[in-house]
Amino acid sequence: MSLAFPVPVKHAIVAPPMVEEVLSPDERTALKTRIKALMKQQDAVLVAHYYTHADLQDLAEETGGCVSDSLEMARFAHAHPAKTLIVAGVKFMGETSKILNPEKRVLMPDLGADCSLDLACPADEFAAFCDAHPDRLSVVYANTSAAVKARADWVVTSGIAVKIVKYLHRQGHKLLWAPDRHLGAYVQRITGADMLLWQGSCVVHEAFKAEGLKKLRAEHPAAAVLVHPESPAAVIAQADVVGSTTQLIEAVKTLPNTEFIVATDNGIFHKMRAAAPGKILLEAPTAGEGATCQSCAHCPWMAMNGLKNLAHVLETGDNEIHIDEAIRAKARLSIQRMLDFAAAEKAGRIQLGD
Ligand code: 13P
Ligand code: SF4
Repeated sequence: MSLAFPVPVKHAIVAPPMVEEVLSPDERTALKTRIKALMKQQDAVLVAHYYTHADLQDLAEETGGCVSDSLEMARFAHAHPAKTLIVAGVKFMGETSKILNPEKRVLMPDLGADCSLDLACPADEFAAFCDAHPDRLSVVYANTSAAVKARADWVVTSGIAVKIVKYLHRQGHKLLWAPDRHLGAYVQRITGADMLLWQGSCVVHEAFKAEGLKKLRAEHPAAAVLVHPESPAAVIAQADVVGSTTQLIEAVKTLPNTEFIVATDNGIFHKMRAAAPGKILLEAPTAGEGATCQSCAHCPWMAMNGLKNLAHVLETGDNEIHIDEAIRAKARLSIQRMLDFAAAEKAGRIQLGD
């Protein structure tokens, strides 16, 4: 297995300052009423990620939309008949919706809602990486630009990465992986696949601290540890469950434990509390010795989504996602491979075993 990293640059991504919307109860009610009326007029549906503000998650559910992980957001938006999709999350999520639904209008509350993984993987550098290794299939995480997806053979999300890489590895393929080095290394450990890893990382998950987690576990020996695989290996090694955001919520619901230590963005606690009322949720430590986090346990780009800017885009039509058609059509193929794989696996047409 090759573990060389022929990627020259490790991009230093600086997260923007955390600015999250704060509303009075009256403001919240007025904004929600206005948004609901506009959504109805414009035949719009709201698709929100678990890391966004609780107000947006509630609004999505109250209006027949969806709150989910990035895989389900893509699936839901694709299946829903609404003419306008409002994507509350980060830019790659809006782009994925547009790639799958070119005939629909896709709006986002803030087009500046980026992602450190996407930013760490410019399309021209990724193309050079692929060109340097023509014998390898390229697998990219969904947290990438449309142009990177267009160059990739496969797109995966954290919920399905292990299964797809296992499948490709069994078919004898060698792989290039981008952009998250922690998720890539995790998938590599589980599957044994031959993967060359891009060196991107998530500024939120990279900040979880293994030493602090060890201490917290000692203080709460009955707690189950839930970890998103964008976290460093020493944090993943302490997990009872490693999974996508949806898989971690499912674990809170189904495991018998009453206490959980959660290593992912704390926006997810809103859904976890609703899914398992009465259970105790503790944030995995990001501070302490060697603390480096730029945005401890909360994504500053996800926090750019709010009710005010959502109302604004519906009123003005601003922040529509547009993607060059040649790029969109190519990116569609690599996303569609993932969706087709997910459907086939669910239907039992692909057997992966253990
Ligand atoms: P999920 O696909 O697990 O929701 O992850 C998206 C993400 O950006 C996590 O940081
Ligand atoms: Fe990107 Fe990390 Fe924010 Fe997820 S939490 S959107 S991976 S920066």
